[in-house]
Amino acid sequence: MQNKFPKDFLWGVATSAYQTEGNNFNSDWWKWEQEGGTEHKSGVACDYWNHWRRDHILLTELGVNSLRFSIEWSRIEPEEGKFSPSAIEHYREMLQDLKLRNIKTQITFWWWTSPIWFQEKYGFHKKASIKIFSRYIERVTHELGGLIDIFQILNEPMVPLGQGYLTGMFPPGKRNPLKLWLALKNIARAYVESYKIIHALKPDAQVGMTHLYNWYEPGKSNFFGKMIYKVSKWFRVMAFNRRIKGYQDFFGLNYYRLGKINLRKIRSEKINFFIEEDKNNIMGWIAYPEGIYKSIMEAHRDYNLPIYITENGFPTDIGIDDNARVKFIQGHLYFVKKAVSEGANIIGYNHWSFLDNYEWLYGFAPRFGLVEIDYKTLERKPRKSFYAYQKIIKNNGLLEISS
Ligand code: BGC
Repeated sequence: MQNKFPKDFLWGVATSAYQTEGNNFNSDWWKWEQEGGTEHKSGVACDYWNHWRRDHILLTELGVNSLRFSIEWSRIEPEEGKFSPSAIEHYREMLQDLKLRNIKTQITFWWWTSPIWFQEKYGFHKKASIKIFSRYIERVTHELGGLIDIFQILNEPMVPLGQGYLTGMFPPGKRNPLKLWLALKNIARAYVESYKIIHALKPDAQVGMTHLYNWYEPGKSNFFGKMIYKVSKWFRVMAFNRRIKGYQDFFGLNYYRLGKINLRKIRSEKINFFIEEDKNNIMGWIAYPEGIYKSIMEAHRDYNLPIYITENGFPTDIGIDDNARVKFIQGHLYFVKKAVSEGANIIGYNHWSFLDNYEWLYGFAPRFGLVEIDYKTLERKPRKSFYAYQKIIKNNGLLEISS
């Protein structure tokens, strides 16, 4: 196996608006927090909205040539049809600064949160959402498209759809399979519309989205174990992809962990399953470096597109020595490189995350950052993994590799 990544490989980190910016009070998730939908409130989060200039200096120190971040729809369009010039200007300044730093810009337009008015009046289960969403995409592309290198219209839509329309844990808090199906159909159409709009405005744009592509296996190799695994695979990956065929310039792949799916019980019409957990991990996640290779090779075979590893990371507790994250990065990159050497066309890799951040239902306890945030003082402190990743980037690959 060759010991280097391709010459133009994009080495990056990822963050999302709602999880880092703070004070996104026009967002449906903010309202969800106030109404008790979550145990933890996001508050000022990392206050990235005001600290981004300082944080960009850290990006340069880290040596990345690409940054994935998202723009918050509820800031850009706080009231229906009224776009905020100051929010657009703010994102323009961020993008310009990255350009000056020679850092490519990957922008995600929808990372699970929507403006309150959108959720109250529309929601993706209503057909009108397609028009409303594409109008937002058109406006942003028109204003900022010249500064965006890679367009990622949606982040992992099946996660908020499942949680928002089936379990009721995310806004809009519904448990309604029919609405889930409608929302899936509409958001996929909104995606395709947006893809066309972006290409019409910027013909050479790189446009796609990201998919959660953890490696799942049936825990028990019996009939029911395999069945539940197949249904989950259809839901996680195939349900969306079959609707957007031909409208992805790359396949954005987010990989975190191994999920062994087991059946808990089948009683009358109720089917219940659980995913095995690592008791020593703060979110119960099982780190499985080889899984990233398996996921990449499967996506390569099934979709035959350039692949962008848009997220890969590991939650830890605060106060650990960070060796686990260093090992995680090295182990996963070993397998990314194996996939490269076996013919997968991989454009780049983003570590999740640049900064510790608000982890949705889990709040601030799980730490994902290469940079630690002290939430009392908002002080930023690069971790050991920051320097390990810096070294990897500098060498465009790994020197010492362990799997
Ligand atoms: C999501 C992030 C989240 C991360 C860790 C990803 O699937 O895109 O928003 O923080 O997982 O749970």
